[in-house]
Amino acid sequence: MEASSTDGKLVEASSGKTNFKVRDGFSTRLGVLLATLGSAVGLGNIWKFPYLTGTGGGAVFIIIYMISVLLIGIPVLVSEHAIGRSARANAIDSMRKVSPNKVPWWLIGALGFLAAFFIMAFYTEVAGWVLAYVFKAFSASILSTDSNVTTEAFNSLVTNPGLSVAWQVIDLLIVGGILMFGVSKGIERVTKRLIPLLAILLVVVAIRSLTLPGASAGLEFLFKPDFSKITASTLLAGVGLAFFKLSIGMGTMITYGSYFRSDQNIPTTAVRVALADMSIALLAGIAIFPAVFAYGFQPNAGPSLVFLTIPSVFASMPAGNIFMVIFFILTFIASIGAQVSLLEVPISLVNEKFNLSRKLSTALASFTLILVGSLAALSNSLLANVKIFGLTFFDLFDFTTSNIFLPLGGFFICIFVGWVWGKKNFFAALTNNGELHNEKFVSVLFFLIRFVSPVLVLLVLLNGLGVFGK
Ligand code: TRP
Repeated sequence: MEASSTDGKLVEASSGKTNFKVRDGFSTRLGVLLATLGSAVGLGNIWKFPYLTGTGGGAVFIIIYMISVLLIGIPVLVSEHAIGRSARANAIDSMRKVSPNKVPWWLIGALGFLAAFFIMAFYTEVAGWVLAYVFKAFSASILSTDSNVTTEAFNSLVTNPGLSVAWQVIDLLIVGGILMFGVSKGIERVTKRLIPLLAILLVVVAIRSLTLPGASAGLEFLFKPDFSKITASTLLAGVGLAFFKLSIGMGTMITYGSYFRSDQNIPTTAVRVALADMSIALLAGIAIFPAVFAYGFQPNAGPSLVFLTIPSVFASMPAGNIFMVIFFILTFIASIGAQVSLLEVPISLVNEKFNLSRKLSTALASFTLILVGSLAALSNSLLANVKIFGLTFFDLFDFTTSNIFLPLGGFFICIFVGWVWGKKNFFAALTNNGELHNEKFVSVLFFLIRFVSPVLVLLVLLNGLGVFGK
């Protein structure tokens, strides 16, 4: 038995106080992997990856996203887990504990607070659409290969202000309720077990999509890159998606790292999570794009893409109704794992910093999110003409969080680990009971964190914001 007494339950002196609080740890190494996947896999795979691939020109966007995961995503994920496990605290306190000097590195955690909030503002709306589609799928009327029919079904939902807000509120009540009653651990156990089921269903849908007449154009779109389509904004969107997908750049993964066992191999975990998460996104792409081309949908439809096109695949399947209901239920369940991890950030902060009870903090966060989130929910109806920097509230939240907040957070995490924390601390943090595994790989990671990832992020960010001219 290699599990030591520090593994299952981690006892930690809560900062400054004399009492000791018990920090729950994950009990198995597989559990760690699945929990991290539970936060990573969500609407990012099923909704955001396909729509960005569609607007970003297909294969070339996928290549940018994959390179971003390898050169930026995995290094940042490893950094966050390493910081969390050595500090064993929430994101802000972890940064405080590991930073040796007076520089306020904990501000990375504060930036994460804002990012989490704005991500939730639109994420809850999309999750609301998913919920609404569970019921739409029952009624069969939207299972059609005619884009007019599926577009009409989607529009009747999003252009209706009452419905849009109501579904968002229902989603928030579910997620808030889970957090309020402190059952998120139990829920996470369920959500992560269902992710393999979602992957299997995606394989089934992908096979159906691939065997539609005319599907090959979709495959070509997905896998034959046209490098002339690279623009500053596709680069930025690809990097932003890598951050969003892996739940990095805002401290969520620092918190997860704080629960890791001391014998967990952090770099291996990061690589496995990144590859599994990427595979699920690709599967969603293969489920959707062949149908897009087979039935003449617009690949660049934007955030509505999956809702417009996936009903057409189910319309072409025996028992399509039932499969579609299951598909949206599983997607919603996957989104819960991600939402719980997102909302946990503001809730734990309000709870610990302002000394409000957990229930009250949750109620406060959910209520504020209903207010801010309704700006996103109403972006296709009452507020369709209210634009900031040319974007509706929904698009503004969606764009700025992935493409500005998260990369900025990731940039500072790289600078901190690469230049302040340094090689010695980083290596020590990745050591398992006195032994450093895969030393060569860890050295490569440190090189990336120090010289490559932050430079790439900064260049892509500035370029995307038009600093180098158009
Ligand atoms: N990764 C999740 C998804 O793809 C979204 C998410 C959950 C997230 N927690 C996060 C994104 C923290 C950024 C930061 O759906």
